[in-house]
Amino acid sequence: MMKDLYRGEVFYLLASPLEHAEAYRYFEDGGLVVVEGKIVEAGPFEAMRSRYPDFPVTDYSGKLITPGFIDSHIHFSQSEILGMYGKQLLDWLDEYTFPAEEAFSSMAYARDIARFFVKELLKNGTTTCAAYTTVHSVSVTALFSVASEYNMRILAGKVMMNRNAPDYLVDTTRQSESDCRSLIEEWDGKGRNHYVITPRFAITSTPDQLACAGRLHVEYPDTYIQTHLSENQGEIESVLSLYPGHTDYLDVYERAGLLTDRSIFGHCVHLTEREYKRLGEAGGIIAHCPTSNLFLGSGLFDMKEANRYGIRTTLATDVGAGTSFSMWRTMGEAYKIQQLNGYPMTVLDAMYKCTLGSARALSLDDRIGNFLPGREADFIVVDYATTPVQKKRMEYLRSRDKWTIENKLFGLQTLGDDRNTVSTYLMGKRVYGSDPCDHQEASM
Ligand code: GUN
Ligand code: ZN
Repeated sequence: MMKDLYRGEVFYLLASPLEHAEAYRYFEDGGLVVVEGKIVEAGPFEAMRSRYPDFPVTDYSGKLITPGFIDSHIHFSQSEILGMYGKQLLDWLDEYTFPAEEAFSSMAYARDIARFFVKELLKNGTTTCAAYTTVHSVSVTALFSVASEYNMRILAGKVMMNRNAPDYLVDTTRQSESDCRSLIEEWDGKGRNHYVITPRFAITSTPDQLACAGRLHVEYPDTYIQTHLSENQGEIESVLSLYPGHTDYLDVYERAGLLTDRSIFGHCVHLTEREYKRLGEAGGIIAHCPTSNLFLGSGLFDMKEANRYGIRTTLATDVGAGTSFSMWRTMGEAYKIQQLNGYPMTVLDAMYKCTLGSARALSLDDRIGNFLPGREADFIVVDYATTPVQKKRMEYLRSRDKWTIENKLFGLQTLGDDRNTVSTYLMGKRVYGSDPCDHQEASM
C-alpha cells in the first residue's frame, strides 16, 4: 500500500475568501497524509505523526505544500509561439497562430508538443488544465494520451472551426460533429480525462456549427464547453456583423445552447451589463487571462464587476497569447490589472481562483482543489525564496516578524515562477522535481 506523510507548510482553501473570513487552513509545521493517491488528512505535523506512526515521512520543512494549480484556459498547440511581436488578436491569429496550428495534423508532431506542454505545466505546478487543441482529431488524441501517461486530470477537446480561417485549418459542421462524437466516446470519463466541446469562437464557426456544438452537449451532458468571448473590440464588431439580430456577443452563444454552468468563456474583457447578468444567472464560468490581455492589448478585465454579478471567475494563462505557463505570474498580472481598476485583489482570492474556486466552477471540487479527506493527491511543493531578491525579501519580513502566510504567498505571486517549484505530485506520485528529501524513519 502506498502511504506517505509529507511535512511542510500546508496551505489550502475551504471557501471563497470573498465570502468567508476563515476561508483557509494553514499549518506552518504541517503534515499531509496520503494513501493510495488520495488525501487522508492534513493537520499539524506532530499530530499527524502520532496518528500515522508507521508512515514514511518526506520532509519539506519550510516549503509550502499546497494543491496543484488549475489553468482554466490554455492552448497546447500554441506552446511554441509565446511572445510574437506587435499584433492585436485578429492579426495575431492570422499571422502567428493559424500557421502554427497547421502542423498538428501530424500525430507525431502533436505528441511531441503535447509532451513538452505537459512537462511545462508540471514544472510550473499546474496539475489540471482546460486545453484547446487544434481542428485535427489527432491533436486531441495526442494530448489525452500523453496526459494519461502522467495520470494528469485534464479537460480538452477538438477545436471546431469551419470558416474565416485558412483552408488547412477548417472542418465542416458534419465532420466536426462526427469527430467530436468519436472523441467523446473514446475519451470522456476515461481515466482522468474530460471532453470539452470547443467551438473556437463565433467568428470561426457558422451558426449551424455553433448549434451543432450545443446539441452535442445536450446529448453528452458530462462534457464541458469552452470558447472565447469579448476579448477584443475588433473581434466584437466582427461578431456583431456576422450575427445580425443578436443582442450582443453572448447572445450568439446562448441561442446556440452554449451558455451553461459547464461553459468556460475565455477573456470576457468587454462585457455589457446584460452579458454579466446572464453569465451570473446561467452559472457560466469566466477564464480571466491577464498576461494574454496585456500582451495583445485586449483590455482590462473587470474583476469587481464579475464578482458583483456572482460570476464564477477562474484564472488562466491563455498560452500562447499568454506570456507564461506560470500561475504565479498569472496571479501577479491579475493583481496589476485590478490595481489599474482600483480593486486590489487579495492573494487569498487569487489562490482561490487558481485552485478551489476553479475546481468548484468545473464541478470537480469533490476530487481536486483542496486537501479535504478523499481528494486526489495532486499537490505541489514550493520554495518561497529561490532568487536573491526573494531571499532578501524573506529575511526582511522575518526580521520584522511579518513572515505571514499572506506575505509568503504574495511574494510568490509577485516574484515567483517555475524556479520556485520543488516538486509536483499527481495522485500521490512525484512527477516533477529533484529527488525528494530523504525518507526518514517515522520514529526519528
Ligand atoms: N480567440 C479565438 N482564438 C483565439 C486564440 O487562439 N487565442 C486567443 N487569445 N483568443 C482567441
Ligand atoms: Zn484562448
